[in-house]
Amino acid sequence: MVDNIPALGLSLGQMAKACFRRAEPAKPQAPRHERQVGEGAGSPIGHMSLGAPARGKLPYYLRMTMPTTPMPSRASQGSLACVGLGMTLGSHLTPLARSHIMQADVVFAGLSDGIVEMWLQRMHPDVRSLQSYYREGKSRFTTYQQWVELMMTEVRAGKRVCGVFYGHPGIFAWSPHKVIEIARAEGYAAHMEPGISAEDCLYADLGIDPGRFGCQHFEASQLLLFERRIDPTGYLVLWQVGLVGDRSLARFQTGPAYRQVLVDLLSKDYPLDHEVIVYRAATLPIQKPRIRRVALRDLPSIELTAEETVVLPPAQRLKPNLAMQARLAALDEQENAGVPA
Ligand SMILES: C[S@@+](CC[C@H](N)C(=O)[O-])C[C@H]1O[C@@H](n2cnc3c(N)ncnc32)[C@H](O)[C@@H]1O
Repeated sequence: MVDNIPALGLSLGQMAKACFRRAEPAKPQAPRHERQVGEGAGSPIGHMSLGAPARGKLPYYLRMTMPTTPMPSRASQGSLACVGLGMTLGSHLTPLARSHIMQADVVFAGLSDGIVEMWLQRMHPDVRSLQSYYREGKSRFTTYQQWVELMMTEVRAGKRVCGVFYGHPGIFAWSPHKVIEIARAEGYAAHMEPGISAEDCLYADLGIDPGRFGCQHFEASQLLLFERRIDPTGYLVLWQVGLVGDRSLARFQTGPAYRQVLVDLLSKDYPLDHEVIVYRAATLPIQKPRIRRVALRDLPSIELTAEETVVLPPAQRLKPNLAMQARLAALDEQENAGVPA
């Protein structure tokens, strides 16, 4: 029995105490920039997971500033770095992400669990948890707006701010993109430092190369709420299946009937006995990845947590595109005849 994590210096007792409470802090800062931050604050339709523009406005991902960092006009007056901690505690942190954390004046933490947060606290004396802003019944979009405002308040106060998020800070994560966009728009230096995401781990743990057959990624609710084109000749990766169909953005999970809706949709492209992989990457070094294989029809009846990702391997063979092959053959012939194509 493993009773501690020597490399991390944490005992199981410390780990148990580190469980997050899902309570609202006594006085959360009211978002001052709700209008700029949201796509119509309070409207779940503007949230990334739902993906649609609210009343004709462009969704946030189309309104992003260019990913290149502009010349900061207020570099000495506050800055921002959003970094990824990776998925597995201790082993995924890159030297650059660590350096951003160490050099920050204040660190905000949006992490997967309390143990990871405790580990981060050993790296910096001022780590402020973002987890406590979650609450059952409260829209996650409101929570994410509050995170943005918390970070920007410190940037505007002239601090070097580091937002630390589990996995990759820019993958299925609204706040890091948004806060960088706002910081840059206000003239502050802002940077995103990538991390190892659940996606990276699943390629390694499941032995999947997305280049072999191609790979689509969807937020599970978005797949239900919008008309999307699934390609069953490639891999299909579904995120946030544990709360699929939650239009309120205020629940931490949804039940079997919601997942049944997803299965009904998927059954248009996949047979019901198609093997589906339910995957959870290890978040602690003492864990192993959890890989469950079930028939598509059984997806509603299994236990499925918010930390799991669902992968559908290809169900059909790649179909040759004969017209394109003929065109390429004609170009090859032209080149062989000495005429550059
Ligand atoms: C809000 S997204 C955050 C993703 C994260 N930024 C990343 O880089 O992987 C949450 C979703 O990520 C996936 N996820 C989170 N933790 C995971 C884990 N340990 N293993 C597999 N997938 C995970 C699940 O699909 C979950 O619903």
